This record gives sequence, C-alpha cells and structure tokens, in this order.
Amino acid sequence: MSIQIPRGTQDILPGTVEKWQYIEKVAKELCEQYQYKEIRTPMFEHTELFERGVGDTTDIVQKEMYTFQDRGERSLTLRPEGTAGVVRSFVQHKLFGQVNQPVKLFYNGPMFRYERPQAGRFRQFVQFGVEAIGSDDPSIDAEVISLAMELYTRLGLKKLKLVINSLGDTESRIAHKEALINHFKPRINEFCHDCQMRLEKNPLRILDCKKDRDHELMATAPSLANYLNAESSAYFNKLQHYLTLMGIEFEVDSNLVRGLDYYNHTAFEIMSSAEGFGAITTLCGGGRYNGLSEDLGGPSAPGIGFALSIERLLSALDAESIELPAETSLDCYFVTMGEQAKDKAVELTYKARKHNLSAEMDTLNRKMKAQLKSADRLKAKFVAIIGENELSEGAVVVKNLESGTQENVPFEQLFDYLTQS
Ligand code: HAM
Repeated sequence: MSIQIPRGTQDILPGTVEKWQYIEKVAKELCEQYQYKEIRTPMFEHTELFERGVGDTTDIVQKEMYTFQDRGERSLTLRPEGTAGVVRSFVQHKLFGQVNQPVKLFYNGPMFRYERPQAGRFRQFVQFGVEAIGSDDPSIDAEVISLAMELYTRLGLKKLKLVINSLGDTESRIAHKEALINHFKPRINEFCHDCQMRLEKNPLRILDCKKDRDHELMATAPSLANYLNAESSAYFNKLQHYLTLMGIEFEVDSNLVRGLDYYNHTAFEIMSSAEGFGAITTLCGGGRYNGLSEDLGGPSAPGIGFALSIERLLSALDAESIELPAETSLDCYFVTMGEQAKDKAVELTYKARKHNLSAEMDTLNRKMKAQLKSADRLKAKFVAIIGENELSEGAVVVKNLESGTQENVPFEQLFDYLTQS
C-alpha cells in the first residue's frame, strides 16, 4: 500500500498553491502599508513556553500539543500558535530597546494542533498573524482589527461579522474570577472533570465548556461586563470610538472569552456569515496580552495581535463564490521539429529565461501538434516555431496566440521582440 498523508494535513498542489501565493502577496502588501515587518520564529519551541504563555489550563496546552522529547531529552513542542514565540523572540532579542516603538510584526507559517479534523479544522494549518508590542493605546487595537478586516475585504469577502469584547484589566479580572468561583463552587460536583479542575485556577474557562454548556448555572453566571473597573470601561469605549471613526461595524458580545490565557482588555473574532460556510464560522481571533512579556521573563511590554488561518479564509472565499485571480503566465513556448531545432530551442529557452522571460519547450520529443496543444494549455503568449527552414534562415516564426498574428523574427532580435510585445 502506498503511504498516505497524515490525518488533518493537506498537500497544496500547483493549481491551488497560486491562491495561497496570491493571499500571501496581498497580506504582505497590506503589512507594508500598515508598517508591520516580517518575523520568522522556529516551528518548535521549549514546551514550557506554551505552558507559561498560552496557559496550562487551556485546551491547547492540555490536549492539543504535539510534544516530544528530542535526543537530548529536552521537551519540545511544535508551535500551536504564533504569539508566544514572537513575544519570546521580542524579549530574547531585546526588541523593546529599539528606537521605533511599538514593534509591529507579522508572520505567516504552519501551526500544529492535535485536534479532531473536520471542515475548517486541521492538525497542520497556516496562520497569518500580526503582533504590535509596546503600546497600550486603544488606537493600536483599532489598527490591528482594521488590518484583519481590510485583508478579508481586499480579497472580496463581504459576509463578515466582527465581534469584540473587553476582558478587563487584572483588577477587573480578579473581581470577576472571585464572583465566578463563588457562583460555581457550591455545585461544582455537577460539572465535568475539566471544569472541576478549572474552578480555582481559571474559572472563566468553565464558560467555554462544551459538555456542561446547558447547565442552569451557565446562563446565570456573573458577566465580566459587570466587573470592569472604570479604566477598563474607558479603554473599551475608546476602542469602539476608534472603530466607529474608521467606519468598521462591530457587535459587542460579553460572552466572547477566547481560548488562550494571555488575554486582557480587548478580545475579538471575525466570523463568516456566508450561508453554507459550515459549523466553524470563526475566521480570525485576536486580542490584547499586556502581561505576556513579563510572564516570559521580559519587561512590561503591552501587546495586541491576531491570527487567521489561510485554510478558513479559502473556505470563506469558496462560500461566497469568490475566485482569486490566477496569475500563471508563460511568455514563450518553443516548438521544435527535428534534432537541430531542438538544439536551438535548448539554447534559446535558456537565454530567454536569462532575459527575465518565462519560457518553456518540449522535452518529450512530441509531434508539432502536441507541442502546440501544450503551449495553449500553458496559456503561452507566444509560440516560437523552429524547423529546418528557420534554422537555415536564422529566424524564427513567432505567433501571438492572443491576436493570432505571426511574424518572422531573426534569432538575434527575438528577446527584444518578446520583451517589447
Ligand atoms: P486562535 O483563536 O487559537 O488564536 O487561532 C486563530 C485562528 O487560527 C482561528 O481563528 C482560525 O482561523 C485559525 N485556526 C486555529 N486552529 C485551527 C485549526 N485547527 N485549523 C485551521 N485553522 C485554525 C491564536 O492562535 C492567537 N495566537 C491569536 C493572537 C495573536 N492573539 C494575539 N495575537
């Protein structure tokens, strides 16, 4: 039996990879306009980074990490997300000392989570994300959210829903945590094992539990919105003010808590509201993480960012029947008849490529008709036909496949002709 791809992963073949390249190009251009610079961090990190960064009570850390011992018996983990690694790098390389602050970074690369594969959920997926570290001003929260919205809009998506919430600052969160513990504690034995474990450490996560979601205490649980102190409310109001100034529509959902521990203040998600998108509608998630740098041994450096997977973006494009422009092009296909013509084509194809043209020739010794068909399939702009006559005349027949016109072009003028036409 032939070997198959592991569950939850996919091969991205020519024909589809062009869509990925197009999205990556648009995302990169957008980051240039917004002044975010690319960062590349390793695909595996010390396991402790995610335990401390993402949080050891989260589903990601408890159930979804690809963790292994290397030959030196270190515990390493394939990164389940990008933020922890980026902030680790920010601290390690002392980017907080750079003149330009805040430090605005973007990344695009594979992440790994041992989740149950289904539509829109993979075990290896590619996240495009940004992190702005070093400012705790709500205008940068608005900027980060606008960047995510702008990427989707530029690619043509219309059926988008932006949901925001405030998780408050530490003081608000402690007050809310206490209220949650008091609320659930008397009847915690009616909840699942995970929830019982979460009660003291991270009771907010109980609200996210899928098993116990219908328990009557869920609906009556104290809402964080009622525990925000004046500063946190002012911060959240300012963010909403900025989004309104930008003309970005949003909904406030006080139940949006997100599945990672490092968040405070702003949390947001962007969903697809397209019909037929499937059960998982979240395209993008992000938020503010003011304590993460300190948790990882760095100085105080407030940050905000988001990540979105290209896989879900592509599904959303499909659900809205949006075709991305396919940018395949071939300037010239060399059609040959006979061995000497082939010699000439080997030389001319090589030289054409040196002249920055995209060029192709037959390497299967096929008949002329089959070669012309290939040129057509590859959407060549020109075919250059070389036979015995052409060799003796020192010129090539160049046919423009778009207009149907053809001309005899001397070999030495060929590249100028192809470049200028
Ligand atoms: P997250 O909500 O865990 O946040 O993931 C962000 C996005 O990654 C999701 O909205 C979804 O598009 C995509 N995603 C997650 N898991 C999968 C999967 N199994 N298959 C396909 N796509 C998936 C984070 O990762 C945070 N680091 C985001 C962030 C950056 N917060 C601040 N900065």
